[in-house]
Amino acid sequence: MIEKNFEPQILAFCCKYCAYAAGDLAGSMRLDYPSNVKIIQVPCTGRVDMLHLLKAIEEGADGVYVAGCLEGECHFIEGNLKTKKKVAAVRKLLVEAGIAADRVRMFNLSSAMGPRFAEIATEMTAAVRRLGPNTIRKVDIAVKEKMLT
Ligand code: FES
Repeated sequence: MIEKNFEPQILAFCCKYCAYAAGDLAGSMRLDYPSNVKIIQVPCTGRVDMLHLLKAIEEGADGVYVAGCLEGECHFIEGNLKTKKKVAAVRKLLVEAGIAADRVRMFNLSSAMGPRFAEIATEMTAAVRRLGPNTIRKVDIAVKEKMLT
């Protein structure tokens, strides 16, 4: 069930060589994409650790994604392939914790794919909106409210 007035907070770790550049291109092309997505530039997706993804969810992000170079085109040879495995491991951990795996995803694109960048941001926002708010955040808010009363 889609919660009314729910605006997901989504973090995107974007490789500066591809996804971040594609985001710039999307901006130059004046393509619309949801403002729900907050971008963090990384030198390569290989720099993104499992802890970054888990911490983001723990801190209340409703969704997190990593966007890296196309497979075989990482400037650091296989940073994106390594992170693909990290994302898969995090998704598995989320399921074990009773959290929807689709809150964390990975995408690959080139710097020339501005429209794809906008499409990914839109697709991720819609998917997370369907999932509803991050339950960890909900629990945290409920606990804090209880402590204040
Ligand atoms: Fe882009 Fe490694 S340099 S994912």
